[in-house]
Amino acid sequence: MHKDSATENLSSSRITVKEFFQLLGISFIVQLKNFVEFLRVAFRYYSNWNFCKIDLSLLLIYLFNSPYGISKKFLQKRGAKDIYAYGETPLSTCEEIAKKCQLSATDTLFELGCGRGRSSFWLNAFVKCNVVGIDYVPEFIARANDIKARFTVSGVTFRQEDFLATSLDGATAIYLYGTNLSDEDIVALVKRFEKLPAGTKIITISFPLTDYTSVPFLKVMKRFPVKFPWGETDAYLHMI
Ligand SMILES: C[S@@+](CC[C@H](N)C(=O)[O-])C[C@H]1O[C@@H](n2cnc3c(N)ncnc32)[C@H](O)[C@@H]1O
Repeated sequence: MHKDSATENLSSSRITVKEFFQLLGISFIVQLKNFVEFLRVAFRYYSNWNFCKIDLSLLLIYLFNSPYGISKKFLQKRGAKDIYAYGETPLSTCEEIAKKCQLSATDTLFELGCGRGRSSFWLNAFVKCNVVGIDYVPEFIARANDIKARFTVSGVTFRQEDFLATSLDGATAIYLYGTNLSDEDIVALVKRFEKLPAGTKIITISFPLTDYTSVPFLKVMKRFPVKFPWGETDAYLHMI
């Protein structure tokens, strides 16, 4: 009886030939988009020699141990429901966001969930703002700090912390790409944002924070389309 239901489950989780080719097609399109993005990045940003070295080092050290795999293992260990929560903001999308949100050298931007730190390094190199990258995956922070030390980068700090508990002191802008965050986490974050000073900018991807609070302490100032390897979505600029 047990065996029968197990076999049933197994066969229902098997994919059909059609689904296999559909998945193969999607994977091909994503790889192609990533390659085009790499060329765009090299063309636009690698003339900044220090950034070029940082970015290529980042790509190299994760070549055989991808950030997706590292994040998956970390989440598996924590017993997370969704273990496929990692993703990165393409650097050309970072540029679009920085321009539309008028980020500047006077900002101190907190990247909540900075992953391996690629966008934090980019924001510091090209917007020239101070960046605080926070992530709870120890390997991401250790490696980002190694790169920071190797290329003597100033103006970027990486902290291995839970962003639901970390201090947000000094932030003038916050970037949150947390499309896979649970509703409870977003509500908890929004509660923390209530304490931020007036004028703080908060940029989110895919959802506005106003959907997660009834307290009118922040306003959506802008909503604009942005591109990710998986498709197009909206970015939201909020102001406290
Ligand atoms: C979708 S990735 C975004 C990476 C990067 N911000 C980017 O845009 O390229 C989300 C990141 O948030 C981190 N994260 C999720 N929940 C977190 C929490 N409570 N505290 C710290 N980091 C968290 C994950 O480890 C992951 O690296």
